[in-house]
Amino acid sequence: MNNFPSWQFNEMNQVGKDYADVAEVDAFDALHGKLRNVEKENEAILDLLSIQEHHSVIDFGAGTGAFAMQAAACSREVYAVDVSRAMLDYAKKKATERGISNIVFCHGGFLTHHHAADLVNFIVTSLALHHLPDFWKGVALRRLHSMLKPEGRLFLYDVVYSEKNYETNISEWISQLKKVGGQEAVDDVEGHIREEYSTFTWIMEALLEKAGFRIDRVDYDQGVFAQYVCTKRTPT
Ligand SMILES: C[S@@+](CC[C@H](N)C(=O)[O-])C[C@H]1O[C@@H](n2cnc3c(N)ncnc32)[C@H](O)[C@@H]1O
Repeated sequence: MNNFPSWQFNEMNQVGKDYADVAEVDAFDALHGKLRNVEKENEAILDLLSIQEHHSVIDFGAGTGAFAMQAAACSREVYAVDVSRAMLDYAKKKATERGISNIVFCHGGFLTHHHAADLVNFIVTSLALHHLPDFWKGVALRRLHSMLKPEGRLFLYDVVYSEKNYETNISEWISQLKKVGGQEAVDDVEGHIREEYSTFTWIMEALLEKAGFRIDRVDYDQGVFAQYVCTKRTPT
């Protein structure tokens, strides 16, 4: 963090779930496989954004690399960025085993990744921005804006709480997770709510707009998830 002020948030310190821990990383795909259809989610993102073979993409908080690998199959180049070296090592190994060579793995994060290559067409980030407190989400979104080509697009999916009935929504979410993922999933989500920085939809939307994005589409799910497709606004 050499070139950053001493008051900079240290995103290398894992907040909540410790994704620097190899055991957590090894368990990630199995747990998430119970709770999500990751392959289908990724197909839907690629479809929604119409990512094509001449496009470049950055995946922030790439985790075990599932999206990066699916995106690499239909784009020119993918930058998989993550603060966890354990996640990057895991994803790199999987990509090598599959013979995928157009992913650049970058150790860094929303606040520290320096994108030295050409501006990209798309930035995708799923279930990762909540690792930053709100002020730093705003800083991160401005940085993401600066890495996109004019009219470049941002896809953001995360735990974001709708303001209305948030207590009911959260307890229904926990009950549903218990049915599909058991106590492990419950512990996971309770830790998330208690210790990580998921925020309200109205805050996320203001942060996106203030950072220079136009929100083209938003989908809410269960009052606890939000998915945004945004376009980089350029000054007129
Ligand atoms: C819940 S996982 C999501 C992984 C993947 N995007 C997915 O949808 O399966 C969150 C990931 O974000 C990473 N992460 C945490 N803080 C970050 C930051 N400040 N910048 C970039 N990635 C971060 C973690 O290391 C972890 O790999």
